[in-house]
Amino acid sequence: MKYTLPLLMCCLLIFITSCDQISSNSQPNLETETASDDTSAISIFEKRILPIFQAKNPSSCTECHLSGVDLKDYIHSSQAETFASLVNVGLVDVKNPDDSKILQFINRRPEQPNLITDKARKREFEAFRSWIRLAVKDPDLLAAKVVEAIGPQVSDEVIRHARKDRVLASFMDNIWTEVGRCAACHSPDRNNKQVKEHGEQVSWIKLSDPEATLNYMVEAGIIDSDDPLESMLLTKPALQVEHGGGQKIVVGDRTYKQFRKFIDDYASVVNAKYTTDTLPEKSDEVSLVTDIWFKITDVPAQYDKMLMQVDLFRKTDNGWSEHRVATGDRLVFGKGNLWQQSLSLAGQRGSQWADEMKSKRLPRGRYLVKIYIDQTGMLKKDFRAELGKEDFIGQVEIDSRWKAGYGSMATSQFPQQ
Ligand code: HEC
Ligand code: HEC
Repeated sequence: MKYTLPLLMCCLLIFITSCDQISSNSQPNLETETASDDTSAISIFEKRILPIFQAKNPSSCTECHLSGVDLKDYIHSSQAETFASLVNVGLVDVKNPDDSKILQFINRRPEQPNLITDKARKREFEAFRSWIRLAVKDPDLLAAKVVEAIGPQVSDEVIRHARKDRVLASFMDNIWTEVGRCAACHSPDRNNKQVKEHGEQVSWIKLSDPEATLNYMVEAGIIDSDDPLESMLLTKPALQVEHGGGQKIVVGDRTYKQFRKFIDDYASVVNAKYTTDTLPEKSDEVSLVTDIWFKITDVPAQYDKMLMQVDLFRKTDNGWSEHRVATGDRLVFGKGNLWQQSLSLAGQRGSQWADEMKSKRLPRGRYLVKIYIDQTGMLKKDFRAELGKEDFIGQVEIDSRWKAGYGSMATSQFPQQ
């Protein structure tokens, strides 16, 4: 008697398992989108809505929302609760079911939708529409009570920040404007030699296509959202690993700051790490790399290998401009008493100059050059730090035509100390 129950259960288990096998072998899954018994709300909910809720794959929303909101957020495990909650927050319109806002959410498509996502979107849309049409006629559902809140867990600000168009705008601001520094070896129109020597993967810049460039960088691990500091976009040019192009940036310089800003932000977005309080602040300044070079001679050798930042202020009718209009930063070459760098134009976001500078030209004329040097290595310790009054070394004035090209470099002398 003692052993009968376990034995019985064992037999039962074997029976169930084999039944399961039989049924799944003999009845291939022939369900289509318009299954014949889709005549009741509950059957549609169970067959076509719940699977969206339980799916491992994200819904069509993620084509535009990298995190923060998903169609799953609008489904509860019970039909009645789902319906009552959606009506309660105004996403289902009981009087005009086809005008329900949830359907408008689902129906939002990018201009060039991904084919697979677009298919999923169609399936989601038809499932919700069929379900809502029947549900609004069901007195039990109409009488159902809200038990639990429905919708995204994060604030609208977080949802907005994680939108793909916003992420792409930040990519443009922080990375696309800088890749001019890398183009000679990484842009497919200029890097025949590098491709021959190292292979196609050196062409990570996709010509005139920032979105494709971002997608490729993520795919290839050049931007690593699991381990941001391992992103090759940082480790290669900062020479933390071997780099065929040598050292192009140093920890804490402006380019490094911008790369980090985007990479850290991107990682937080795709890993859904943000709350309203931790959203990053938008910087007031926008910048653009140019091919206008600037050289400063007679730099004292004592500043060798220190990061020197040079800010340019333009002569206006009321004195020097309030904000810098161009900037450059690079390590001092002490042995040659030299500092030289291609300038980045810089302007306050939304200002007239920020618009004008898109021409990548610096108007000829008189400029004040302010020089800062990081003598304590503080940027290496905290890449977010900014050089300020204490790091100010001196200033000079220059009149130049600021012609583009390495060969037409403007030159100034280091200020007398
Ligand atoms: C084609 C791109 C796109 C798709 C796909 C998309 N959305 Fe959006 N969504 C946007 C845009 C753009 C906004 C902000 C502008 C607006 O509200 O009109 C937005 C705003 C929102 C908001 C409001 C947050 C705010 O800014 O106030 C919610 C909630 C939302 N979407 C949910 C969803 C859900 C759920 C899905 C999937 C069923 C989805 N979205 C699919 C582009 C999209
Ligand atoms: C003078 C040429 C040159 C310049 C300029 C240059 N690189 Fe490179 N880079 C190379 C070469 C050559 C390789 C291939 C060998 C290697 O992996 O180090 C490479 C490889 C890379 C890779 C790895 C690509 C992959 O998928 O394997 C990254 C990322 C990279 N560079 C980033 C940069 C960044 C960012 C800049 C600009 C700030 C830059 N490089 C500027 C020559 C250059």
